[in-house]
Formats: sequence, structure tokens, C-alpha cells
Amino acid sequence: MSISIIGNWKSNGSLDLNKVWVKDFLNSINSSAIQDTAVCPPFIYLEQMIDLTSDIDLSIGSQDIDSSNGARTGSISVDACKDIGCTISIIGHSERRALFHESNLEIRDKLIAAHANNMQVILCIGETKEHHLSGTTNDFLQNQITESLANLELSDRFMIAYEPVWAIGTGDTPQSSEINAIHKFIKDIVQSSSKNNFTPNVIYGGSVSSKNAEVLFNEEHIDGALIGGASLNGKEFAQIANIYKDRGI
Ligand code: PGA
Repeated sequence: MSISIIGNWKSNGSLDLNKVWVKDFLNSINSSAIQDTAVCPPFIYLEQMIDLTSDIDLSIGSQDIDSSNGARTGSISVDACKDIGCTISIIGHSERRALFHESNLEIRDKLIAAHANNMQVILCIGETKEHHLSGTTNDFLQNQITESLANLELSDRFMIAYEPVWAIGTGDTPQSSEINAIHKFIKDIVQSSSKNNFTPNVIYGGSVSSKNAEVLFNEEHIDGALIGGASLNGKEFAQIANIYKDRGI
């Protein structure tokens, strides 16, 4: 899977703003960088964004999927997302875990549903400030990974986004070398806990912008970024994707 730069619009966007976003993105993106990018608008705008970008290689993804379909009022199934042309989904974002109480086991069911439907996924993991301060980050991440992935068969349609909760929307990020070491740890744990010893790409999320992107992307184990606030501006998002494409490694 080549997608490395993913925008998470969260609960933002509008029919008008989305059109401006696509125009700004197209005016700033280098054509060779487009294929690395995906953007995840709210469900209600997926179809509009798929239509607006039908001529370009930008992938459109969802911010979540349900693990099943049928009698599940208010939820959106993998089948429905695929039906309208959505190819990729974020799963287990920390806001889903905190605000909507999603557990590692529910997230596991979503991963299984996505895999069965050939949907690409970005599994989000990340520690809270308390774990960061008490030095228990690795234990916390290992638990998230093993509860949601143990004995699952993984493929290159699967990747992880490491997003320290305390870095999301705060401008406060770990040093790039610290992130690099954690990504290496995550790759090793996924490799040893997945059924087929798969080593995933690991992208970083938490206050990524065009200002810190270059430093991050020069680290060996940072394979891209999941971008919230800075992805709401098409030009800024394109600039981050261009920096990724031109990185030194
Ligand atoms: P941020 O959000 O880039 O605004 O910190 C990242 C995310 O929540 O995925």
C-alpha cells in the first residue's frame, strides 16, 4: 500500500468548503505526490469528495466503519462505504475510544470486517499524557496492539498510526527520534503478535504541519503522517504531502 499522508477532517467540512479544499489542494500538490495521499471527510461528504476528486489519484476514506450491518441503527457498514467508492478507513482513533468508548476488542472486530472486505485500514494507537509521564508508554501500546491484533492475519492493506493522545491538537509533540524509536517498537510487537509475522508501515499523528514534517519524515521508521487540523486547509495538506515525497530517505 503506497498511501502515507492521510487527512482526518474529523467533524469538519461543508459542501462549499470542500470545493474550496479540492481547488487549493490541486493548486499546490506536486502530481507525483498525489498517489501517496488520502483524505477522510465525515461520512456525509464521502460521496461529494469522491465525485470532486474522480479525475485525480487522491483516495477518499472514512473515519470509522462498523464491524457488521443490519439492525445497528445509526452505524455505517464496510459494505456501504465500499459501495460508494471509499477504499480506506481509519479505525480506533483516540477520539472514538475516549468519546464513544470503543474497546480494543470492538476495534479488533472492525479490523476483521475490513480485512474480509479488502478495505485498507489505519489502526490508531497512542498513550495518554498519564502513561507518557509515568514512563509506561510501551506497555500501554503493547496492550493495545495485542488485544486488537493477536493472531490476526495482516496484509499490506493494514497500517498503524501512532498518535500520542497528548500530542493531538496541542502543538506539543515528542522529539522525532523518540517517535522513531516507538515506531520501531510498534513494528516489532505487531510482527511478533500477528499470525503471519507481518511488519506494518507506521505513520505518525499529533500536531503534524508543514513546519515539522521534514524533520519527522527524515526518520527511518516514520512512514508518513495522519493529519488532523493541518489537513483542513488543502494547500497546507498538499505541502505536507510534497515534503513527504521529497524526503531524504
Ligand atoms: P492533529 O490531529 O493533527 O490536529 O493533532 C491528528 C489526529 O487526531 O489524527
